[in-house]
Formats: sequence, structure tokens, C-alpha cells
Amino acid sequence: MVILGIETSCDETAASVVEDGRKVLSHVLASSADMHAKTGGIIPEVAAREQVKAILPVINEAIENCKLKIENLDAIAVTAGPGLIGSLLVGVETARTLAYVWNKPIVPVNHLVGHIYANWLVAGSTWHVEKPQATSYKPHAPEFPALALVVSGGHTDLVLMTAHGKMKWIGGTRDDAAGEAFDKTARLLGLPYPGGPAIAAEAAKFEARNSKHEKLHMFPRPMMDEKNFDWSFSGLKTAVLRETEKLKNKKTKKLSGEEISCLAAEIQEAIVDVLVTKTIRAVKKFKPQSLLLGGGVAANQRLCEEFKLKIENLKLKINLHVPPPLLCTDNASYIAAAAYYNYKPVDWRKITVKPELTIMGE
Ligand code: KG4
Ligand code: ZN
Repeated sequence: MVILGIETSCDETAASVVEDGRKVLSHVLASSADMHAKTGGIIPEVAAREQVKAILPVINEAIENCKLKIENLDAIAVTAGPGLIGSLLVGVETARTLAYVWNKPIVPVNHLVGHIYANWLVAGSTWHVEKPQATSYKPHAPEFPALALVVSGGHTDLVLMTAHGKMKWIGGTRDDAAGEAFDKTARLLGLPYPGGPAIAAEAAKFEARNSKHEKLHMFPRPMMDEKNFDWSFSGLKTAVLRETEKLKNKKTKKLSGEEISCLAAEIQEAIVDVLVTKTIRAVKKFKPQSLLLGGGVAANQRLCEEFKLKIENLKLKINLHVPPPLLCTDNASYIAAAAYYNYKPVDWRKITVKPELTIMGE
């Protein structure tokens, strides 16, 4: 079964063609991130306008790249939510029109569930994963029960999956998402949007100078010792603000390069530490076969490294699956994969956008 996936929930316009939920035949992405880097965050109106311009060329390219014809497509999958309403509408209205004109089934996909399905993707014959993370990227399909940690710009959720479509929510953030914590603290350090990759790059400079992660304890780890599987990240930005105000040069009001990279390493360590500690605690409690990471923050190398270390040190019997970075951040391949494994087509007249959707549905 060949599915055309369409994703426009945030600032990306993406289309992919995926065979049998696993083989990526084409993977196309247009981003307006450069425009948002200048404004320090996403302006929804700007994102949606760019998506209107990009959507048809992106879909066209995805179909041309895999050398298939429209007749070869079995269905269209599209992100219905959560996300920015204007952005979601661009994808859903386009998908609906194509489903009607091409007479194809249309499958709405929950973006957050989609992130988990990046773990089922492998490179197909016409598309290759750039720089696969050979050590953490498992080419075999994940086995159930699986514990999935979804860490994106707007959401942080921990769910237990016993089968496709069978999910139980275990925990999540009480306030800011992990990606949001990276984005907001990066801004305090004067780093561009998106903050996650910018903080990771600065932290790498610090690590090149000092190799010990254990010493990084400048910022608090809220809720880490509580017996739930929840997180709280909003206090981090207050703590970072306080520290930057203390460190800033009195005359220039600026931080030095060394101070920025040190603070970035501390921020990354604080986020990684709480995410890994609580997730590993859930692994011990629920004893799943697989641990699946997904969402933009799963592209963080330090996070993967810490998960691997903990699993090895504690000799946990679990397979860690981490998609290669370009499948962690928003794209349409995982949307097509999620639609294949949770195939529920709807009437094209009835599909609606759901900006407030949670990982568990409505
Ligand atoms: O999943 P995603 O691409 O979009 C949403 O659904 O939100 O996630 C975007 C988030 C942003 O907050 C971004 O800063 C973060 O993922 N991110 C990272 C990295 N790459 C992207 N965070 C930490 N380290 C990274 N390498
Ligand atoms: Zn996302």
C-alpha cells in the first residue's frame, strides 16, 4: 500500500510517499524556519502564507521523486491536529481537494501519534536517510509493548502502546514542553529559533572544553523525585533568566561566548536529565519491549546518548529506537506511516482540523 503523506501543522510544508508504512520512497520538506529565526519565533500568519505557496510544489515533487503515478497512490494521509489552525487548514484543505479530484481515501492523522511512527520508517529504494545514526537507529520494526516518549516544540508525552492504536497515557508536562524550554531559554541566551539545535551546538562547544556531564548542576530538576511520570519545564526559563542577569557584563549587557556555551550545556543537561530519569523509571515499572523516542527534541544527540548509557548501565532488557534526526523533526513520512498502521479513512466532506488535539485524541 502506497500512501501520500501531507504535514503542515507548524512551520513546515511536507509531503512524502511511503510504502507499507515503512519504506520512504520520497521525502520533501519546505520550511519557513529562516523567516522565523529573524523574528525569534513563529508568526502563525507568516507560516500559513508560506505554506499556501509551498504546498502544491512540495506534493508534486514528492510524487515526481518516487517516479510513481497518481494511479499508484492508494490513499492520502494528512495531519488533522494538533497545530496552528491556519497551517493545519492548508494541509487539510489541499488533501481534501486531492482526495476528491483523484478519488482516493483520506486518512486524518494525529501529529503526536505520527511522531512515534518515525520509528517504523526505513529508507526505500528511491530515498536514502542522510547520516543514519548507526548506533541507535534500529532497522527492525519496534515490538510491543512499547513505551514512547514524544518530545516536540509544543508537547511532552509519555505513552504505553500495547498494539497499533492501543495507547495509554502515562505522563507528560504540566506546563511548557521540552522543545519549548529549549526555544525559550535559547532566546534568553541570544540564540536563534529553533532553540534546540542552537543550544545543542553551543553545548557541544562547552563539552569540547570540559568532558564531564556530571558536574553540570546549575539548574534545578523539578519533579524529578516525585513518583509520577510528569515534568515541569517552566521554572527553567526563570532560573536561566536569573543566571544570565547575574552573568551579563555590566557595561555591554552581554554574555561572553564561553558563558553562552556553558549555560547552553547546563540547560541541555537539565532537560535531558529529567526526561531520561523519569522515562527510565517508567521502563522499570512497565517493562516494555521497546523504548521509542519521537519529536524534534529526540534529534538531540545528548538525549540519545544518555538513554543509551542508562540502559547499558542498568542492564535493562529493552530496545531503544531513535529515528535519525531528520525523521524526528516534523515531516510527512511519519504521517503516512501512522496512517498505514491506523488505517481509518473518512469521508472527504467530513474531515476537520483539530488544533487542540492531544496525543490520546479529542
Ligand atoms: O517535532 P518538532 O519538529 O515540531 C513540533 O511538533 O513542535 O519539534 C520542534 C522542537 C523545537 O522546540 C526545537 O527547538 C526542538 O524540537 N529541537 C531540538 C533539536 N532539534 C529540534 N531540541 C533539542 N535538540 C535538537 N537537536
Ligand atoms: Zn512535531
